[in-house]
Amino acid sequence: VTQDAGSAEGKKQPVVVICIGMAGSGKTTLMQRLNSHLHSKNTPPYILNLDPAVSHMPYSANIDIRDTVDYKEVMKQYNLGPNGGILTALNLFTTKFDQVLGYVEKRAEDVDYVLVDTPGQIEIFTWSASGSIITDAIASSLPTVVAYIVDTPRTTAPATFMSNMLYACSILYKTRLPFIIVFNKTDVQPHDFALEWMQDFEAYQAALNDSARNESGESGYMNSLMGSMCLVLEEFYNNLRAVGVSAMTGEGMRAFFDAVEEARREYETDY
Ligand code: GTP
Repeated sequence: VTQDAGSAEGKKQPVVVICIGMAGSGKTTLMQRLNSHLHSKNTPPYILNLDPAVSHMPYSANIDIRDTVDYKEVMKQYNLGPNGGILTALNLFTTKFDQVLGYVEKRAEDVDYVLVDTPGQIEIFTWSASGSIITDAIASSLPTVVAYIVDTPRTTAPATFMSNMLYACSILYKTRLPFIIVFNKTDVQPHDFALEWMQDFEAYQAALNDSARNESGESGYMNSLMGSMCLVLEEFYNNLRAVGVSAMTGEGMRAFFDAVEEARREYETDY
């Protein structure tokens, strides 16, 4: 790390957006949308691809892990399965990450946004030493925020919603960076139900109780566990931004970039 994030007074610094999302959440489509949106505003982003296994990328990255490591070759050489291959490729790339950061820092004054695409198998990035090293290196160099992408149509069931939010909460806990929940695919499923559940604890608990009753007449233990988890989530929601977007139609881009700006301010105040 060559530059202290807080000390670049007067110097323009881009904000780094680390995009994390489960497979199928629409992360790739969203990256493409963010890229074309920023191009249309004459502020093209600097893009880093950290997913060694992505086969088709509909945008071009400035730095692409695939140019440095071939994860299929890594699988063969080390006799690994796909997940081990991705993890090992990320580990190998991490050993060069100081150079990568050097390139990003060189361009820092010319760009407003650095977008980081991460492996679709989220846990490989969020729960590996390499993922932490990369995240910490970026965040100690430039203002950095996390965008967690949610497949909104697939998260309308109260229990699935809770699982997804607890997962997001665990990522916040791991990265400790300003956090944005991005409800994607609002063209198919508007995200107002999610906002209501995030703002109104009782509405959410009522929905949860209803669905639990319908499914199996939940036990007292499950009800009490769910009640406790709701309280955890209420605290989690207090500290983040939630926006709805459609990577497909481009709806919600302004809300997204407003949230990035707000998260950046949080970074500048707290980190
Ligand atoms: P992996 O490549 O498997 O990691 O998935 P990903 O998270 O990168 O998702 P991808 O962008 O490939 O999108 C998954 C599917 O969702 C594709 O069929 C997309 O066309 C679709 N999709 C993505 N964003 C949207 C959206 O905003 N609206 C709708 N209707 N579909 C979307």
